[in-house]
Amino acid sequence: MSFEADLKNKKEYVESILERFTSERGSVTDEACAYSVGAGGKRLRPVFLLSFYELFNENADDKACLEVAESFAAALEFIHTYSLVHDDLPDMDNDLLRRGKPTTHAKYGAAMGILCGDALLNEAFVIIAGALNKAASFNDGGKCFVRAAKAFKIMAECAGRKGMILGQEIDVLNEGKSLGKEKLLKMYELKTSKLLVAAFCAGAALGGANDEELALCEKAAVNLGIAFQIRDDILDVTGDEAKLGKPVNSDEKNDKRTYVFEAGLEKAGSDSKEFTKEAIGAIKALNRNSGFIESLMNMLLERES
Ligand code: IPE
Ligand code: IPE
Ligand code: MG
Ligand code: MG
Ligand code: MG
Repeated sequence: MSFEADLKNKKEYVESILERFTSERGSVTDEACAYSVGAGGKRLRPVFLLSFYELFNENADDKACLEVAESFAAALEFIHTYSLVHDDLPDMDNDLLRRGKPTTHAKYGAAMGILCGDALLNEAFVIIAGALNKAASFNDGGKCFVRAAKAFKIMAECAGRKGMILGQEIDVLNEGKSLGKEKLLKMYELKTSKLLVAAFCAGAALGGANDEELALCEKAAVNLGIAFQIRDDILDVTGDEAKLGKPVNSDEKNDKRTYVFEAGLEKAGSDSKEFTKEAIGAIKALNRNSGFIESLMNMLLERES
């Protein structure tokens, strides 16, 4: 199968998982959640999570645990989507277009945007709690449950106050200020890499990776996240709004001193290549069947959306 066909299949598989978790409607919050999650997006984090699960569970001896991994994949996309809904709010980046549609607050109002993000984060943990309960019922000597508990800790920490949220804090508190390269990279590692660490390492942990392997997955995610954010910053300047599905020049509007602002477009481009190379090196060191993951990393370097 070609890489493109493989990616398309995996994305469709993720869409079908997400539908399972967004079908219930009763309140405006439910509607706003379904709207923001259903608007689309690349679904990278769930695709990576399930790919890392597969990478370490190559013999597919754990069909039952796959269902648990699917729940984690959905939960992570919920957390990511909440981060976008809040990122777009008037007091954050104040943007009106996301995933090719009006942002959640543009459609439902700022208060509902806040509640929608809150609800998506809570729902993520409801989904994970359900998965843990399911894993506890498996007749596998607690194997899947122990792995799921590890994955849960990874995900909660990566999303939380020392992870993505701290990165967003540094971002919004430093508008109009140059952070210097080291601090800027630290911010990217937090606001962007952390949810990729969650994807790589939670998937790997569920598949049975050991601590040494998890460290390589983390190294790969940190580097890929930096490359991904630099590419995002480049596209904010050079991209096409119709392809991106979000506004261009948002960073300039908010006076964000991004990697592109600090280093210029050319250096940003070549550095994002270097970070991607570093990420792929860490994946290769796992010595596993990682062709799809490596191709996806390379594709992200050239992405237009
Ligand atoms: C956007 O993430 C936010 C950043 C970390 C730059 P994505 O580019 O993965 O957004 P979607 O999920 O495809 O909409
Ligand atoms: C945000 O970075 C990363 C998040 C944690 C949501 P940006 O603010 O650059 O993301 P976009 O460009 O709005 O997607
Ligand atoms: Mg932002
Ligand atoms: Mg933004
Ligand atoms: Mg951006």
